[in-house]
Amino acid sequence: MVWVNSSQKPKKIKPFSAPKGVPDYVPPISREFEAVRNSFQHRARLAGYEHIELPIFEETGLFARGVGESTDVVSKEMYTFADRGERSVTLRPEGTAGVMRAVIEHNLDRGQLPVKLSYAGPFFRYERPQAGRYRQLQQVGVEAIGVDDPALDAEVIALADACFRGIGLTGFRLELTSLGDNTCRPEYRKKLQEFLFSLDLDEETRHRADINPLRVLDDKRPEVQEQLVDAPLMLDYLSDSSREHFETVTGLLNAMGVEYTINPRMVRGLDYYTKTCFEFVHDGLGAQSGIGGGGRYDGLMAQLGGQELSGIGFGLGVDRALLALEAEQKQASDGRRVDVYGVALGEDAAREMAIQINKLRQAGIRADMSYGGRGLKGAMKGADRAGARFALVLGESELAEGQVQVKDLTEHAQHAVALENLAEELRGLLQ
Ligand code: HAM
Repeated sequence: MVWVNSSQKPKKIKPFSAPKGVPDYVPPISREFEAVRNSFQHRARLAGYEHIELPIFEETGLFARGVGESTDVVSKEMYTFADRGERSVTLRPEGTAGVMRAVIEHNLDRGQLPVKLSYAGPFFRYERPQAGRYRQLQQVGVEAIGVDDPALDAEVIALADACFRGIGLTGFRLELTSLGDNTCRPEYRKKLQEFLFSLDLDEETRHRADINPLRVLDDKRPEVQEQLVDAPLMLDYLSDSSREHFETVTGLLNAMGVEYTINPRMVRGLDYYTKTCFEFVHDGLGAQSGIGGGGRYDGLMAQLGGQELSGIGFGLGVDRALLALEAEQKQASDGRRVDVYGVALGEDAAREMAIQINKLRQAGIRADMSYGGRGLKGAMKGADRAGARFALVLGESELAEGQVQVKDLTEHAQHAVALENLAEELRGLLQ
């Protein structure tokens, strides 16, 4: 409440907006948002992944150590602040490090392996906002921890593929590569650095080549890309065991009918990846085309103070999946707020309708009604806006007979149903 001096005119208060780059999902889009997230989570449950709910902020060191100091995510994009006790905390920029911290903290890795967990929620990256790139982004992710079995890589990749297909998307591709392990990576890194230092690169890029040469392959500038045509590629330097691992993964994906292309130049934005890495790319999204990605991480758990155990997982971008649905002109939800909408004419009918609608909800039927004594036309508009399949029309005469008119809003037909049979009748009609 704003105190206003009686001699002054009331001050007009400027409404607030959401922070820059932070999307709201309001109806009807929130319906799609929820449908996508639920569908992804449902697929994860089908594959035996259990829910894990993690803090939105963690000790800053967890991400610095887990994700890698030289990544853009850690060096430029974290929301880091000191809390009132002068501890440095960070809004989580991704989910894998937090899952690993919790697995170690709660000794989940001392039980049955692999530990299979899934999560959903917001993540925070201070990126330059644009279409499909937000500062608060939403992911559904899974992690399978503790077993270095290529069959798990195939499971995780096939699961991500099924998530996207399950919401109706078709215009995406899966790119795959292997980043090798700690036996072959150092040699490759040396070869790549030798190559990069022989090029005509600016000071900053040379510095990057020194700390994280792989990242130079991701440089988008044409004058750099031109020079990278003959760069050595990790896939040509894989150790025997990494090669075998990768061949088993691709062989399984072939057998499962999961299509992919090999992209030996893939560079992921997080440093923990080893061996299998993958990205799902949608062609209808413009620059921010990555709708999901993941990979295996051999050293992460040990790096965070846990056992030497490997893991693999993915993060699917819910915001971008929504944009992809829009680009393909598809819906993930059934487009309905409720299935049944009550339209009552007159006070007594409105009272009875409130009781009937409550009964329908108890019977598990999505139901709402028109409030505020609106006339037939206005109330029917409400039924339409709710996307209802059936309107229940109750006037004084129907009420006197203990009946209601059930109006099919797609077929434009109607019939009378006794109030006492209403839930049963509607359940049949809605099947
Ligand atoms: P990521 O590739 O950084 O991986 O993010 C996964 C997905 O989140 C991206 O493919 C994209 O769809 C979405 N995303 C990322 N940044 C933004 C943004 N600024 N705006 C909108 N969407 C965004 C990870 O985060 C890893 N933790 C995935 C993982 C799990 N790897 C192994 N396990």
